[in-house]
Amino acid sequence: MPSVHTKVNSSWRALRSSEGTPVLDVLRGELGLNSTKEGCREGDCGACAVLVGEKADGIVRYRAMPSCLLAAGELHDKHLISLEGLVEGADGGPTPVMRAFLEENASQCGFCTPGFIISLTSWLAEPRVPDMAGALRAVDGNLCRCTGYAAIRRAAARLVKEFARLPLDPKERLRALVDAKVLPPSVLEFIEESAGTDAGTTVVGGGTVAGTTVVGGGTDFYVRNPEPEEGFAPFITRMVPEFSRIRERSESGQAWLDIGAAVSVSDFFASPEVRRAVPGIEHYETTFASTLIRNLATVGGNIVNASPVADITSMLLALRSHLAIVERERALRAGGSGIERNPERIVPLEHFFLGYKKLDLLPGEVLAAIRIPLVRAEMSRFFSFEKTSKRKNLDIATVNTAISFSLVDGRFTEVGVSLGGIAPIPILCQPAIEALEGQPCDTSDARRLAALARAVAQAARDAVHPISDVRGSEEYRRRMVHQLMLAHFVRLFESSGIAEELFP
Ligand SMILES: Cc1cc2nc3c(=O)[nH]c(=O)nc-3n(C[C@H](O)[C@H](O)[C@H](O)COP(=O)(O)OP(=O)(O)OC[C@H]3O[C@@H](n4cnc5c(N)ncnc54)[C@H](O)[C@@H]3O)c2cc1C
Ligand code: FES
Ligand code: FES
Repeated sequence: MPSVHTKVNSSWRALRSSEGTPVLDVLRGELGLNSTKEGCREGDCGACAVLVGEKADGIVRYRAMPSCLLAAGELHDKHLISLEGLVEGADGGPTPVMRAFLEENASQCGFCTPGFIISLTSWLAEPRVPDMAGALRAVDGNLCRCTGYAAIRRAAARLVKEFARLPLDPKERLRALVDAKVLPPSVLEFIEESAGTDAGTTVVGGGTVAGTTVVGGGTDFYVRNPEPEEGFAPFITRMVPEFSRIRERSESGQAWLDIGAAVSVSDFFASPEVRRAVPGIEHYETTFASTLIRNLATVGGNIVNASPVADITSMLLALRSHLAIVERERALRAGGSGIERNPERIVPLEHFFLGYKKLDLLPGEVLAAIRIPLVRAEMSRFFSFEKTSKRKNLDIATVNTAISFSLVDGRFTEVGVSLGGIAPIPILCQPAIEALEGQPCDTSDARRLAALARAVAQAARDAVHPISDVRGSEEYRRRMVHQLMLAHFVRLFESSGIAEELFP
C-alpha cells in the first residue's frame, strides 16, 4: 500500500493510515495529537479545523480545512499544522491569536477554540489587508456553544488592529507571521523543502483502478461515509495537478475557460479569469457553505454529487458549460498531464444529469474539467444567482437559480436560466430561456423591462412541477421560482427603476 508522506507540524512522516482515512482520525488516532476536536463530523462546526500548507503555481499557501472531511491522501507532500504545531513557534506558550482569545475571555469550555484559532491564523496568512469583515468571514464555519460570539468578535478586532501592517507578498507575509510567532518556524522549513517542486504532482490512491471510489474535497463523500473501512484508498482528484488548473483555450473559433474539476470553490471564486468571464460572480461566494468548506470542496464534486440544489452546478448550467470527461486509468498513468485538453468525451452540463443521482458518467470515467464558453470581447455577460434557504449562511438551498445572457445590438442573446430544487435534477429552464432570447433590451425603459421580467417569471413558474418536502411545499417553491426570476432582473437592471415598476 503506498504511504502518505507528509510534514506534520515540524517533522515529515510516512503515515500508517490509508489515503482514505479522514485526517481527524490520523491526528487523534495514529498520531495522538488531540488538540483537534471532533464535534459534528459533518463539516458544520469547525472544531476539527487544521491548517494545510501546499505549493501551487510556485507559491506556498496555508489554508484552514475541516479535518473530519479531509482524506489523508490529500496531505501527500503537503504540510499539516495542528494547534500543537502552532505553539512550537511560541516556545510552547500561546500564539498572538491564542493570546487575543485569552485576553478577551473568548474561550469557556474550549471545545471550539482550536478551530477558531486555526481559522483566524489562516485568515492572517491570506495576503490581504486584515479587516473585521475578513476576520468574521474566516470563522463563518466555526460554531461556539458557550462563550458567545461577542467575546470572539472582540478577539478578532484585537487581531485586526495588531496585524494591520502585514506584507502583502505571500512569502513575505508568511515570514512576518513566523517572526510574530503566529506561525511556527516549520512553515519556513516547508517553503525551503518545497523549493523547486510543485506539491501534488502525484496521484495518490487509486489502488485498484476499476471500481475505485473518486473523492474530490470529500465534503459530500465523508458526510455520507464518515468512517470508511480500513485500507480505503480513493482516487483523490485534488492530487492531479492538471485537474486543479484554470485556463483559457480556443477551439474552432470558440473561446472557453477550462476550470479543472478539482479546483476548490474558494479558488473558483477568487480566480481573476473566472471573474473576468462571469462579471460579479464573486458576490455569490458566501452563499456557498463556509470558508472551511469552500477551501476543501471542489467544483467537480459539486457537479458529480448531483444534488438537485447544488449551487455551483446551478451557476454553471446557466453559463451553458460543458464537461470534459476522461478515463480514470489514463489520468492515473499520465499523472493528469495535459489530459483535460484531450478528453475522451465532452458533454453539455444540461445533458449530464439523467435522473436523480443518475449521471452520464461511465464506470472508470472521471470528470476532468468544466468548460465555460467565453463571450466575445465586444459583448459583456450579465450574470445573477439567487438562493433561498432556511438560514442565510451554511445552509443548502430550497430553491436556487442563475441567469446569464449577453446583449447584442440591444437584444438578449446566449440566454441561460437554471433552476435547482424543483426537480430530481438541476435543470435549464427552456420556457424561461425562450421568453427572453432575442427580446429587445432598452435599459432606459423600466416599464418594458418589468413586463419582460414578468413574462420570464411566469414562463418559469408554469414550467415547474416541484415536490413538497421538509424544506418547502410545492406551492412555496413555485412562488419562489417566480419571485427569484424577478429578483434577477431587479439586480441586473437596478438603475433602470425596474424595482419600482415591479413592486410599486
Ligand atoms: C457544511 C456543508 C455545507 C455545504 N454547503 C453547500 C452549499 O451551500 N451549496 C452547495 O452546493 N453545496 C454545499 N455543500 C455540499 C458540498 O460541499 C459540495 O457539493 C461540494 O462542491 C462537493 O465537492 P467535493 O469535492 O467535496 O465532493 P466530494 O465529496 O469529494 O465528492 C462528491 C461526489 O462526487 C464524486 N466526485 C468528486 N469529484 C469527481 C470527479 N472529478 N469525477 C468524478 N466523480 C467525482 C465523488 O465520488 C462523490 O460521489 C455543503 C457541504 C457541507 C458539509
Ligand atoms: S467535526 Fe465538525 S466540522 Fe469537523
Ligand atoms: S467555548 Fe465552549 S463551545 Fe466554544
